[in-house]
Amino acid sequence: MDKLEVFGARKLKGNVHISGSKNAALPILAASILSNKKIILNNLPNVKDIKTMIKLLESIGSIIKYSKKKNSITIQNKNKIKTFASYNLVKTMRAGILVLGPMLARYGNAKVSTPGGCTIGVRPIDIHLKALAKLGVNYKIVDGYVHAKSKKKLKGTKIKFPKISVGATENLIIASSMAEGTSILSNCAIEPEIKDLINFINCIGGKIKWIGKRTLKIQGVNNFKEAKYNIMPDRIEAGTYLIAAAVTEGKLKISGINPNIIRTEIEIFKKLGLKIKIEKNQINIIGTKDIKSINLKTSPYPGFPTDLQAQLMVLLCKSKKLSIISEEIFENRFMHVAELNRMGAKIKTKGNKAFIEGNTNFKSAELMATDLRASVSLILAALIAKGKTTINRIYHLDRGYEQIEKKLRKVGAKIRRVS
Ligand code: EPZ
Repeated sequence: MDKLEVFGARKLKGNVHISGSKNAALPILAASILSNKKIILNNLPNVKDIKTMIKLLESIGSIIKYSKKKNSITIQNKNKIKTFASYNLVKTMRAGILVLGPMLARYGNAKVSTPGGCTIGVRPIDIHLKALAKLGVNYKIVDGYVHAKSKKKLKGTKIKFPKISVGATENLIIASSMAEGTSILSNCAIEPEIKDLINFINCIGGKIKWIGKRTLKIQGVNNFKEAKYNIMPDRIEAGTYLIAAAVTEGKLKISGINPNIIRTEIEIFKKLGLKIKIEKNQINIIGTKDIKSINLKTSPYPGFPTDLQAQLMVLLCKSKKLSIISEEIFENRFMHVAELNRMGAKIKTKGNKAFIEGNTNFKSAELMATDLRASVSLILAALIAKGKTTINRIYHLDRGYEQIEKKLRKVGAKIRRVS
C-alpha cells in the first residue's frame, strides 16, 4: 500500500493551481443519467472518487470517452441503461447514492447499494429516501440495497428538508428536474457545489431557479439537450493550500479559484493574522509566526466547512493561546487528533468540541491516515515537523486531492510517494 514520506520544516513558495471540484463533479456525473444526449464535461479532477463514479456509470451502460484534452470526458447514455448500482462501487464512495434520484426520474425503478458505514460518522440516507417518497417513490431496504420504484412518473411536489443536507438536496434537485410538474424544495443546502449542479442541469435544458435563500422552484422537463460544461474549482483544495502556506509561514499564489466562494474562510484566515490579497481568480497569502486563537463552529455553507476543520486545526496548533473548534456536521470527525497529538500537538476532545492548546512544535513521526481531510491534515503537520514523517494508508487522500505531491513539490515541499 502506498505511503508518503515528508521531510518538513520548509517554507512553501510559488503558485498552486486549483483543480476541478470533486464534490461538484460527483453529483454532475450522477445527473448525466437524466439524459441520452451527448454531454461534455471539462475540468474534472483526476482523483479516485471521480474514477469510481465513472466506473459506476460505465457499469450501468453509459459510454464514456476520454478526450485528448486533459480532464475532459464525453458521456453518451443509451436509451436504456441498467438501474443498478453495486455495493462494490458504492462502498468506497458515498456519493454513489446520488444515482438513485436520476434512475428513478428516468426509469421509475432502481436498486442501489446503501453506502455503508463511514469513518467520519453514521451518515444515514433517510432524508434522501423520505424526500424521494414524496415524489411518489416506494422503497424498501433489503440486504443492504435500496429497492425503489414508482408506479408512474415521479410527480413534483413541495418538500421541506428537515435538516440541511448537501447530498439529499442534490438527489432531489436531480430527481425533480425530470418529474412531472413543479417541485418546491425548501431548507436546501446552498453550497457552491449545489449551485454548480443547478447550472449544469439548466445547461442541459433543466428549469431550476432560486426563489428564496434556501428555496428552489424546479419545473420538470422530459428531454434534455446536448451540452458542454466546465466543473467549478475545488474550494476545499484551495482552502487546504491556503493553510499549507500559513502553517509553513510561506507565500503562495492560489490560482484558478473564484475568491468569492471562500469568503468565510478568507475572513477567518485574516482574523488569525494571515496576510491575504485577493485578485480576480487568484488569492495571494503570506504566512506569519503569530497566529491568533479562535473559537469556531463548522456549519453548512456559508459557514466554515467541516471539510476544512482538520486542516485548520493544524494551523491553530501554532497559535499561542487556546482555540476551540466545535464540529457541528459529523459526529466522528476528530480522528486526526490522536495522530496530531503523537506529533506533539496538545489537543483534547470532549463530545463535538476540540480544545487546541497551541504552542506546538510538531515533531516527525510514523502516522496512519484515516479519512480524506484527516489525511491531508497530517501532511500539513508533516510539512512543519523537522525530519522525516511517514504517512501510511493514504488511499483516502487519493480519493480527493489531484496530484498533491506534485503540487506541493512544485512550491518547495520535500515529499515523495513510496509504493
Ligand atoms: C457532502 O456529504 C460532502 N460530500 C462531504 O464531503 C461534506 O463533508 C458534507 O457534504 C458536508 O458539507 C460530497 O459532496 C460528495 P450531508 P453529504 O448530507 O452530502 C446528516 C469530503 O471530505 N444526514 O450534508 O453526505 C449527516 O449524517 C466529504 O469531501 C442525515 O442525517 O453530507 C450529517 O450529519 C466528506 N440523513 C449531516 O446530515 C441524511 O439522509 C450533513 O450531511 C443525510 C444526511
